[in-house]
Amino acid sequence: MLPQTIQTTRLQLRKPVPADAGAIFATYGQDPAVSKYMVWRPLVRVAEAEQFIGEAIADWESQRRFAYVLDRRDRSRQTIGMLDARLEGHIIDVGYVLARDFWGRGLMPEALSAFVAIALERESLFRVQATCDVDNLPSIRTLEKCGFSKEGRLDRYTLHPNISGEPRPCFMFARCR
Ligand SMILES: CC(C)(COP(=O)(O)OP(=O)(O)OC[C@H]1O[C@@H](n2cnc3c(N)ncnc32)[C@H](O)[C@@H]1OP(=O)(O)O)[C@@H](O)C(=O)NCCC(=O)NCCS
Repeated sequence: MLPQTIQTTRLQLRKPVPADAGAIFATYGQDPAVSKYMVWRPLVRVAEAEQFIGEAIADWESQRRFAYVLDRRDRSRQTIGMLDARLEGHIIDVGYVLARDFWGRGLMPEALSAFVAIALERESLFRVQATCDVDNLPSIRTLEKCGFSKEGRLDRYTLHPNISGEPRPCFMFARCR
């Protein structure tokens, strides 16, 4: 359905392996600035990252979800984030995260644009969508740079537990073919 690796100028997107858990825990999993608008709380134990990666690998096998690890393509080959894509019929729902040291260099727009181009080439896929908290400006900008349209505001849509115990409003963005 989707390739196990995608290359961009500066990044390689690839299917995870169990050993990725340690890097994810160390580079961004514990960082409260990274998880601020996410549905998960900052990780406390590496076992949480191991469970997440284990589920991501199992979901690749069932072809329901395609969670890519993002590695730098320079000599460091450092793992710096993830792009998570869930299949819902003819729709792919994406989420993404990048280690804080790498924000502001256009890396996620680079990864997401490459992913969207490949996804929308698939005969069965017509729509790539993403929701983000109405206050998550960096994510909104990422989606705008990738040509997504803001389709609307969804009130009380997602629980972002690092901000509030009550469901938060989100924007729905999409790119279609
Ligand atoms: C959202 C995210 C992936 C963006 O990735 P990125 O590669 O930094 O994206 P860009 O470099 O294109 O920057 C996007 C916007 O982030 C903001 N930004 C830039 N540098 C920044 C920095 N050092 N710190 C905080 N925000 C910054 C700017 O608003 C920028 O928009 P602009 O280019 O119009 O000025 C990244 O901020 C992130 O991982 N955030 C935490 C996880 C998250 O919120 N994921 C999305 C959930 S819906």
